[in-house]
This record gives sequence, structure tokens and C-alpha cells, in this order.
Amino acid sequence: MKFFIDTANLEEIKTCASYGFLDGVTTNPSLMAKEGISDQRERIKAICGLTDGPVSAEVLATEAPDMIKEAKELAAIAPNVAVKLPLTMPGLTATKALADDDVAVNLTLVFTPLQALLAAKAGAAFVSPFVGRLDDIGSDGMAMVGDIISIYTEYAFETEIIVASVRSPQHVLKAALMGADICTIPFSVIGQLAAHPLTDKGLAAFLADHRKVAEKPAAH
Ligand code: E4P
Repeated sequence: MKFFIDTANLEEIKTCASYGFLDGVTTNPSLMAKEGISDQRERIKAICGLTDGPVSAEVLATEAPDMIKEAKELAAIAPNVAVKLPLTMPGLTATKALADDDVAVNLTLVFTPLQALLAAKAGAAFVSPFVGRLDDIGSDGMAMVGDIISIYTEYAFETEIIVASVRSPQHVLKAALMGADICTIPFSVIGQLAAHPLTDKGLAAFLADHRKVAEKPAAH
């Protein structure tokens, strides 16, 4: 499973890259706003300089012709930009046109397997089911991902599934067990993936035991 980081923060992206498992980046207008950015183009360019993997940049237009125009401008920033469009009827129309022009599209704000089926049929390179937001309203986000994987496997669609709106390591674990292509993970959750109290306790004990003999005068 590929690891994308779900952020527009350059330091978080650099840190994740230093761990050696940065396969791509997803952003959205809310993540850009969190960084105080109103025109995302410079930031997308900077992010594309930090990874060769796909970098999702979301269009703000809502009608198909405007989406196509904006998407092409974003795609021109760097070869690894994937334009993010909402799963709406205009979004699907724009996706078909962009896919025919070999522009990689990530269809976002997906909350049902049928929306994901439409994304694949439109030719999206990626689909982003939002698991956390479904869990938030008492639904089962990961069950949706399971259904999407079944449909895509049945019909051999090539659209890659990005498990998005990830809230916890449990989402990452379930995505991996289900065989999702990609999980896009907030920086705070990436930190939690490596953490275990027994790892910390075990390391402290190893170092303490080593110090005991290292500090002893050598026997003659
Ligand atoms: C990524 O592509 C999505 O925009 C993001 O994961 C949404 O996450 P949120 O539901 O925590 O805002």
C-alpha cells in the first residue's frame, strides 16, 4: 500500500520524506487555508519539488468547462500533479474530458460505492473515499472501501483507491488488510503508526542494561 501524506505543510512533507515512505501528497482547499494560502499554485509547485509521487491539487471551479480550464492550468505546474475534482455530475463530465487528454484526475468527496463506480467509468486515475467523515455520521467508512474494492476487482478497473479522511491508525491498518492501493494520512496519524509503549519500554531497558556493563571497569 502506498502512503500519501494529507497536508499542504512543507515541513510535514519533508519530515515524512525523511522517513523514506512518502509516495505522494494530497491537498484540499481546507488544508491550503490552514496554511494561510489563497492561491495554491506556488505551494503545489513547492510540494512537487519534494516528491516524484502524485500531488493532488483541487480545483475550485464547479462547472465542467471552468473545471477543465482550471485543471489544465494546475496540471501544467508539474508532471506529477493530479487534479482533484468533486464527485458531481460536472466533475464527472470534466473527468472524462481530462482523462481523454491524459490528465490524471483524483475524484474526491466520495461517500458511496456507486460514486466510486462512476469515477472509474469516467476514467479517473484515483478515487478518494472519505472514511472518517462517514464514521463521523455513524456510518461505516471502511465498509464502503471494501465494497469499492469488490466492484473494481470484479470489473478490473485501473482507478487507484485512495483511502482518505483518515482519523486513526485503525483506518490505515484496515486499508492495508483490505488491499487498498493508497492511504492518505495526516501527519499526526503517521506519528502514531510507529509508536508503541512496549517499544519505548524495551529500548529504555536495552540501553540501561548496556550502560551497566559499559560503565563497569574492565576485568583483568
Ligand atoms: C484528502 O484527499 C481529503 O481531502 C482529506 O483526507 C479529507 O480529510 P478530512 O475529512 O479529515 O477533512
